[in-house]
Amino acid sequence: MSSRMHPDNDETINPSGNTSIRDVMAEFSGRRNFLKGSLGMATIATLGGFASQAQAYVGSPAPGGGGITFTGLPPNLAAGFVDAVSVPTGYTAKTLIAWGDAIGVSGPAALINHDHADPLPITAARQNTTFGQHNDGMHFFAFPAAGTGGVSNTRGLLVVNHEYVDPGLHANTATYGAIVITKALVDAQVAAHGVSVLEVRKTGGEWSVVKPSPFARRITGETPMRISGPAAGADAMKTAADPTGTSVLGTLNNCAHGFTPWGTYLTCEENWNGYFGAVGSFTQTSAERRYGVTAGGFGYRWHEADPRFNLNAAGNRNEPNRFGWVVEIDPFNPRAMPVKRTGLGRIKHESCAFAVADDGTICFYTGDDERNDYMYKFVCAGKYNPKNRGANRDLLDSGTLYVAKFNADGTGTWLPLVFGMGGLTPANGFTSQADVLIRTRQAADRAGATMMDRPEWVAVHPTTREVYLTLTNNNRRGSNPPSSNNPDGSTSAGGARPPVDTPNPRPDNRYGHIIRWTETANDPAATTFAWDIFVECGDRLNPAANLKGNINGDDLGAPDGLWFDQDGRLWIQTDQQGDGLGDWTNIGGNAMFAADPATRRITRFLTSPRNCETTGVVSTPDGKTMFVGIQHPGEDWAPGTYTSRSTWPDSGVNGPTTQATVSKPRSGLLVVTKNDGGVVGT
Ligand code: FEO
Ligand code: CA
Ligand code: CA
Repeated sequence: MSSRMHPDNDETINPSGNTSIRDVMAEFSGRRNFLKGSLGMATIATLGGFASQAQAYVGSPAPGGGGITFTGLPPNLAAGFVDAVSVPTGYTAKTLIAWGDAIGVSGPAALINHDHADPLPITAARQNTTFGQHNDGMHFFAFPAAGTGGVSNTRGLLVVNHEYVDPGLHANTATYGAIVITKALVDAQVAAHGVSVLEVRKTGGEWSVVKPSPFARRITGETPMRISGPAAGADAMKTAADPTGTSVLGTLNNCAHGFTPWGTYLTCEENWNGYFGAVGSFTQTSAERRYGVTAGGFGYRWHEADPRFNLNAAGNRNEPNRFGWVVEIDPFNPRAMPVKRTGLGRIKHESCAFAVADDGTICFYTGDDERNDYMYKFVCAGKYNPKNRGANRDLLDSGTLYVAKFNADGTGTWLPLVFGMGGLTPANGFTSQADVLIRTRQAADRAGATMMDRPEWVAVHPTTREVYLTLTNNNRRGSNPPSSNNPDGSTSAGGARPPVDTPNPRPDNRYGHIIRWTETANDPAATTFAWDIFVECGDRLNPAANLKGNINGDDLGAPDGLWFDQDGRLWIQTDQQGDGLGDWTNIGGNAMFAADPATRRITRFLTSPRNCETTGVVSTPDGKTMFVGIQHPGEDWAPGTYTSRSTWPDSGVNGPTTQATVSKPRSGLLVVTKNDGGVVGT
């Protein structure tokens, strides 16, 4: 159940209903279960040690280049798979906050009962005062440094996304499908999503969350928001609850993020489709099909108790159209209403990263994380004004949304998604710019964009403005051309198996790759670019030749989180499923790596607890404190399996690790520092 709730690794989101990744995962889990069955539970705990003895990992313990001077770690699997975070010699990682910890707002006691016996560990009232579940992208907004005109490296606002919730924590995961869904339960889960704004401070050498803080804030799936930009007020945005189409409750599935140079935070709505369902008979429209809006959703069942999530509730069919946007939040004004900026399109936004030229020309890159979907950029019509924050307030409302076409010769074109251009016409069913934006995917289908291997995070180099994009994996390439499964008549990516192409060269891209490009004349508003593949990820011990990758340094798979630090080190975080048995021998579990863009050398910096992913990374401006996210430790945690799972970060807090009292694993944040006070990565 819980992997269904975490669709980054699952197929329930795909409108075609194809189950090929599920087949792969069944094979993977089957192998793991086979090992359990044949060797017994006592042995499974030492399997990592077995792997370590039988086959040493192949990697690069030598320091990397490009300002990367630490000695890289072996994969956790080679270390025996400890249920803990590891960092290189000379570094320290500490937990800053985890799900359910108080964030410093007044309200009910911050109490999440870690004991699995608690039948209702979260309530909306508790969650509204505490750190949300399953943190993902985040940014650090430094406070001004007193009297210097500069920025602080010891105090600021840490703004953090909360991507999804484990409904299994409301009941035994295996039995969630049978429990009665109440409005109180839905409210609690809705409140676990969204964003946390934390004030953090370093005092006496230690970082902590400031409690109370006037800036501390939870923004959730219930927080009122304004809808702005070209789609605001469109008929397709109106519901019975909002006949104006200009206001909406909440933001959901807040995966990765972005920020603006004028000091606002951008939270991206990714797999929002899975929260909706239908009570009664349901006939899916072509638009719903293209976005994966279905009668059952991902199994949350919120629609059974809350009409807002019921597609059949009177006047509510458009509610899903009000999700799938980039939401702008002013963290410095706790009373400011978040704004859904429709100009950036409606997709499954992964992240949103800007590039700005010296003259203020600015664009925002954002990928649509689905197999064979697209990469976008939004070029603001206005220029960024660094001297007047207020002048930038609505920059994201006016501009041009483009989608990327990667040509085989290493060039590329940004295709405008503008009503009336490129076939986005009434003759082809498009009625307005609002319609183009609400159905961004279909508009991009029509424009002829390049189907990519799941666009995840984007990172822009701080000085060269070269753009990097993780393409995490894709098993849906083949010979079934686009347009074979397109009820709206467009060239649909939804059910197609496109052939491999030069930007997506592998037919079974299990380990993913990273692509990069430079805009023509280095202009953020350019409509052409030049691209190359930075790395094809892989496991060099994999017997299949096309899965070995071409990594210079340490092996990795399923690249997802991506971020450039102040010195131009590229940090890569991974989201493979499981602990790294099976076909991930030389990779082990999920980890975070530092890469040198010049030499492409990749070095493993941090390994993570069992069954989690590493996602979310940012530093203080001086690079000496790094915040790193650990998401879904012990994914698929369930009674009877805890010995091979995770209790991070609370191991032992509830006493002996008997099944009744063992701690639930919790997503949380790390503070990583260098023991000599130096820059992280050196
Ligand atoms: Fe939520 Fe695409 O990662
Ligand atoms: Ca993920
Ligand atoms: Ca991700």
